[in-house]
Parts: sequence; structure tokens; C-alpha cells
Amino acid sequence: MPQASVYRVSEWNGKSGERWVSNQARLDAMLEHFGAAAIEAAVPVPGEQVLDIGCGAGATSRVLADRVGPDGHVTGIDISAALIERARGLYPAHTGLDFELEDAGSADLGAGRFDLLYSRFGVMFFAEPVAAFTNLRLALKPGGRAAFVCWRGADENDWVRLPMGAIKGIVPASPPPEPDAPGPFSFGDGESVRSILSLAGFTDIAIAPFDREIPFGLGTSREGAINDAVDMAFEVGPLSRALADAAPDVRKSAAAAVRDAFARRPGEHSVMIDGAAWIVTARNASS
Ligand SMILES: C[S@@+](CC[C@H](N)C(=O)[O-])C[C@H]1O[C@@H](n2cnc3c(N)ncnc32)[C@H](O)[C@@H]1O
Repeated sequence: MPQASVYRVSEWNGKSGERWVSNQARLDAMLEHFGAAAIEAAVPVPGEQVLDIGCGAGATSRVLADRVGPDGHVTGIDISAALIERARGLYPAHTGLDFELEDAGSADLGAGRFDLLYSRFGVMFFAEPVAAFTNLRLALKPGGRAAFVCWRGADENDWVRLPMGAIKGIVPASPPPEPDAPGPFSFGDGESVRSILSLAGFTDIAIAPFDREIPFGLGTSREGAINDAVDMAFEVGPLSRALADAAPDVRKSAAAAVRDAFARRPGEHSVMIDGAAWIVTARNASS
């Protein structure tokens, strides 16, 4: 089974969504700087209408709402009922902010409704990315902007590279995902991202690398942080899928190897690992 098939839409309403809800605070801490870099690239200004695509539990929607102020509005959209419920629970009555349960790739978002399309790691899961980005572009006002952050390759990102490298030889290797199949690394190739956006009708496309250490796991001591990092790697991401059907002794050996790998990284209260992303900006060509 190709690894990417686990990124079916239904997964975000199943295990992936549940794991994101239960790890929401830790994931927000890990991803904060990546989301902030995309917000800086987006340059939201007071009074703007913003769509936060694949908003998850809504942390970036909240920051954007602060930036556009009381005269602006942010709509967070996500396909996961559990995450939308969490977002509504976390930000219940915040002025100018609401959350909709929709598939961003096909929902009728309203023609020319938004000044800005934004996303923190929420645009890599479309089965048909050109069609999805065309749908999203049509929701932009003429001359409106898009700004998002997406992962570069798995081979540059420790949250995958490190645990998956550690279990080599313990768990049989899974077949590699098809390069453009939906999944966290489907936008890893910048030229392919440029082509998707261009075919979807965007112009002024800029793609810049953004590298940042990620605080992975959280503890009151270094030992606690390493243990938490191992738990997280088992909970979220490809390791959890690679070991889903593994026997208890295999899981035990894998856990020891992953622990050794994290223990080689610095960090007192989190394990600091390397993260590599693209910050992408573009504009709606129709004006
Ligand atoms: C990696 S998570 C990022 C969540 C959030 N942006 C954050 O940074 O915390 C990807 C999100 O995209 C959502 N998603 C995936 N496909 C989607 C689609 N077709 N339409 C809307 N949301 C989608 C998932 O449910 C999930 O919440």
C-alpha cells in the first residue's frame, strides 16, 4: 500500500485528526515559528478578509484575526470535525473569527470574498492540487494574495528523517510514497509547487526556504523531554504508521533506537531538531 494513501480525507476525521487534537498544544509550539514566518510574508493589514486553509485547531487563525483587527475577518476552514470543534472551543467568541467544516479544495467559498489566503501546513493534502488551488484562487479578490508554509523534503526534516532512520533494519522499509501524492511532503519540490500555482492561475509566485529548529517533545528535564519526543514520534507522523502493526518486541527495539537518535540532539526541555520548509507567496492573476 503506498504510504500516501493514509492521507485520505477520512483520516483527518479519524486517527490523524484525533492525534492532532490530543497533541494540539505541543504541535502549536513546534510549528509556531513556521506559521509566524508565513504570516510575515502574507503582510495582513487591518480590515482584511482572510481564509486560513486547513486551520486545524485555529492558532494561526487567532493570530491573523489580531492582525486584521475588528474591521477585518478571518475564516478558518478545515476538513476535520474534531479539529474544527477544538478551534471553536479554544476561540469561542473572538470577534471577527469563525471556523467552517469544509473541504477547501471543493467548497463553494464565495467568489472574490478574500484579500488573503493563508495556510500553515494545510495545503499539501489535496488529491487534485491544481483544481483545489483554482477553487481557492476564485475565492480571492482580484489582485488578492496567497501565503503559506509547507514542508520541504522528508530527507531535510528531522521529525521524519531521525525516527525513520533509527528504525531502519528493525522494521521493513515501506514503499516510498509517490512524489506528488497527497501528504506532508507533496510540496517538497519547489518547482512542482510553482507549476501547481501557475496552472491554477496565480502570478508573482515566490518560493523561499525557511529553516528553523523545532522544539520536539516537552519535559521538565532533558530525560523527560527525550521520553516525550519518543512518545510524540510514536503518536504523530510516519513512525506511528510504520509501526502500526508491529509486534510488541519490535516496537520496544524501535523505541530504544528512536530514543538513542533523539538523545544525540541538544535541548534541555525539548529536543531541538532541524526543520526545513518553503514560504510561498503568490497573487491572483485576475485584476
Ligand atoms: C498538518 S495539519 C495543520 C493544521 C494547522 N494549520 C496547524 O498548523 O496547526 C493539516 C490540516 O489540514 C487539514 N486538511 C487536510 N485536507 C484538507 C482539505 N481538503 N480541506 C480543508 N482542510 C484540510 C487537516 O484536517 C489538518 O487540520
